[in-house]
Amino acid sequence: MCGIVGYLGDKEAYGIITKGLERLEYRGYDSAGLALFNNNDIELCKTQGKVADLKSKAESAGVIHGNVGIGHTRWATHGEPNDQNAHPHYSNSGNLVIIHNGIIENYASIKEALEGRGYQFASDTDTEVLVNLIEDIQIKEGVKLGKAVQIALNQVVGAYAIAVFDKRKPDEIVVAKLGSPLAIGVGEGEYFIASDASPFIEYTNNAIYLEDEQLAIIRRGRDVKVRQIKGDKQVMPYVQELQLNLEQIEKAGYDHFMLKEIHEQPKAIKDTYRGRLRINSGIIKMAGVDNNLEKFLNAKRIIVVACGTSWHAGLVSEYIIEQLVRVPVEVEYASEFRYRNPIINQDDVVIAISQSGETADTLAAIKLAKENGAFVFGVCNVVGSSIARESHAGAYTHAGPEIGVASTKAFTTQITVLTLMALKLAKAKGRLSESEFHNHLVELETIPDKVADSLQIDAHVKYISSIFKDATNFLYLGRGYNFPVALEGALKLKEISYIHAEGYPAAEMKHGPIALIDEHMPVVVIATKKGHYEKVVSNIQEIKSRKGKIIAIVTEGDKDVKKLADHVIEVPETYEGLSPLLTTIPLQLLSYHIAVMRGCNVDQPRNLAKSVTVE
Ligand code: F6R
Repeated sequence: MCGIVGYLGDKEAYGIITKGLERLEYRGYDSAGLALFNNNDIELCKTQGKVADLKSKAESAGVIHGNVGIGHTRWATHGEPNDQNAHPHYSNSGNLVIIHNGIIENYASIKEALEGRGYQFASDTDTEVLVNLIEDIQIKEGVKLGKAVQIALNQVVGAYAIAVFDKRKPDEIVVAKLGSPLAIGVGEGEYFIASDASPFIEYTNNAIYLEDEQLAIIRRGRDVKVRQIKGDKQVMPYVQELQLNLEQIEKAGYDHFMLKEIHEQPKAIKDTYRGRLRINSGIIKMAGVDNNLEKFLNAKRIIVVACGTSWHAGLVSEYIIEQLVRVPVEVEYASEFRYRNPIINQDDVVIAISQSGETADTLAAIKLAKENGAFVFGVCNVVGSSIARESHAGAYTHAGPEIGVASTKAFTTQITVLTLMALKLAKAKGRLSESEFHNHLVELETIPDKVADSLQIDAHVKYISSIFKDATNFLYLGRGYNFPVALEGALKLKEISYIHAEGYPAAEMKHGPIALIDEHMPVVVIATKKGHYEKVVSNIQEIKSRKGKIIAIVTEGDKDVKKLADHVIEVPETYEGLSPLLTTIPLQLLSYHIAVMRGCNVDQPRNLAKSVTVE
């Protein structure tokens, strides 16, 4: 939902800002812009399109010099994606310039009041309203920029990460945050601003993550000053050392981040259980669970809240936890949960799953759960993210940065964490014997190698993709643990190839979707040996009799489905509860290859953004 970058130091800001914007393009990519302070003035360039379009426009206009600047890549909320609505936005006098990630909900009434005082607006955005509100306050109250920003933010309702500078004070950038992320990179005599640390990781490992409702004044040659937006209290900024490195955020020879991330899954899963899975001592170590074991053991119910792919991982966990721990699990779309006055009890455990840790609906759902006295456990990938901080306790997935917009390794590592939790709780509740527990751990340890084996079928999946790349619809079917995988497979195809796809529980097909099946309908069926195999084979027969084209995901060595299906893709055998970690791999590859063959932008699919920080 928009990426912001800024620089204040001795280097040319242009290259730092544009490279940073390219790294943040996963957050939005319908328009981009930058503003540099050069020749005692603000030089601004912005355009509809991607950062590459911005670079060619800026370079031909000569907007490339200056050692203070801000840049933005946009995911449109207010106002269509066009040049005028692209950020940065000037104030009416031209003295101030702003970039913003978020939504100002009460912008219309503020705009009306400002128009009443003669302000004019060149764009349809809420952001241009905010910069003019700041200017209006500067003029009326005669205060410095930082104070004017603070007063303005006390008047707005909504979410923001902003950076503002004033050409009359070019050695200062004011930033503030509520609901959207903002990191300040602290270098030697230079500062960086960004939505995440990736734009500045090659310059510094030291970062300050602003908390909600904090404002920071960044000045050349001075320490960063942080204060609360409400109440004006000064806060001592905490400079944290980052673990991220450059290699993790580059493509490493792959054509796309998505493909790289698919192939990273063996390592990512291993990183997820590293230090936790202790086979020799017969334990699973998870500090967040260990320190709150009573909460989990006394829970009458577990509620999982999440969105999108993370919601699918939550559905898989429903099967795993109910099977192993025998506690009822409800899996809720965070966006529905937060608005439907849900029944939340003090002995409920709420598990929030989120790759980014910034998804607005999930964040709001856990705030609601906390207000009602529930214990909230976060499963996030991004360290220090808002959901991680807002939760009472949690477990990171340790998947490393996921940059492709379509989630892949986040999904499998979320399932891995949730499986570890389920096994741990099942053991603590005496639901698994020592030997059953041991066998599960041993099998879980084999999963990275089995995922690596599943990736070997890439060329075969590519061939199948070439046959079906022009299909207009797809059905995905699975049962039990693999029903959520069918949903996830359909979501992957929809979001990156724009082919309509539906995921269904295989047995539900006859209650409606079967009407769609004819010789033009590809049906992907997950038909692994352990998991209602015979019943799925019957479902395949039903599809075959209606001439549907069957692509089956089967267990290595399968014979029965091979006789019926048009194409089979084999995955290694494993426990039923672990099979989603393997069956999902060919579905990720299928959607990837189809999207590439259709000429789609795999890493930046239309209309999407990596972290959805607006509701
Ligand atoms: C799908 C996808 C989205 C996210 C969803 C939740 O590939 O990426 O559906 O899963 O927006 O995001 P997080 O997990 O960051 O809360």
